[in-house]
Amino acid sequence: MNVYWNGEVVPQEQAKVNPLDRGFLLGDGIYEVVRIYQGMAFELEAHQERFDRSAQRIGLLQEYPRLKVVLDALMAQQSDQLMDGMLYLQTSRGVAPRKHFFPNPPVAPSTFGFLSPLPRPDLMNRAMARSTSVDDRRWLDCDIKSISLLGAVMAAQKAQETGSVEAILHRDGRVTEGSHTNVFAVIDGVLRTHPPDHWILNGITRQVVVQLARSRGMSVLEDAVTLEELRKADELFLTGTTVEIWPVSHLDGLKVGGQAPGELTCQLMKAFNERVSGKVDA
Ligand code: PDD
Repeated sequence: MNVYWNGEVVPQEQAKVNPLDRGFLLGDGIYEVVRIYQGMAFELEAHQERFDRSAQRIGLLQEYPRLKVVLDALMAQQSDQLMDGMLYLQTSRGVAPRKHFFPNPPVAPSTFGFLSPLPRPDLMNRAMARSTSVDDRRWLDCDIKSISLLGAVMAAQKAQETGSVEAILHRDGRVTEGSHTNVFAVIDGVLRTHPPDHWILNGITRQVVVQLARSRGMSVLEDAVTLEELRKADELFLTGTTVEIWPVSHLDGLKVGGQAPGELTCQLMKAFNERVSGKVDA
């Protein structure tokens, strides 16, 4: 596999990470995952904006390559054109003697990226997801797309060990998001999801889904649901770049949100498919 490494596209084995890289040592960096549909990046500008915001939030002020530059460089080196896949890109604060504070003077950031194939899920026919509620013990700056993912890794592992595909995180019973997805519920006809603040990552898929819902006249409330509400919700689904929209059938081994994807979820999956195929703008 070819990868992007600090301005060059090289075979993976030739991307030599300096062990003093702050990304490697301290998890001091940020990342993005962008979906590629039919060879085209989906919502690239929104991902760039979020990446720039993450950079600003962690005080990474030096120049780093834009997503489009990395994407084009990697695409140009593909032997077969990538149709459905994903771009991973991360930038760390660079190589410096190990200190907790930022290197002063600043050093050049390190950027790593790769493309990988990822077929589209068949949204309307995919098996529904099983989920497990997990105490959200991550840090308090979840709006930053940080490469320090230990909290998310631990939660995802817990879900896996209990036969689920995703953890539904909560703080004292208030649902925040998944380990790598956002969570939506339909309660009394209203689509509910956590507001985009520091408790969650404001997912690009989340934003697209909110936009699709509003433009179809659905009522959307960006307000956290409790676990108790979630257990009684009429519909429940996850969103994310890799999973798109994924209806949930179980929470902690108990049935939730109906045994078939609900009415609003189906409308949104259909709208999302149309959006991906370029048939509608929003
Ligand atoms: N994760 N919340 C968290 C904590 C995430 O890590 C992600 C994405 C999302 C969904 O965001 P988006 O719709 O922009 O993908 C929500 C990526 C895909 C990952 O870590 O692989």
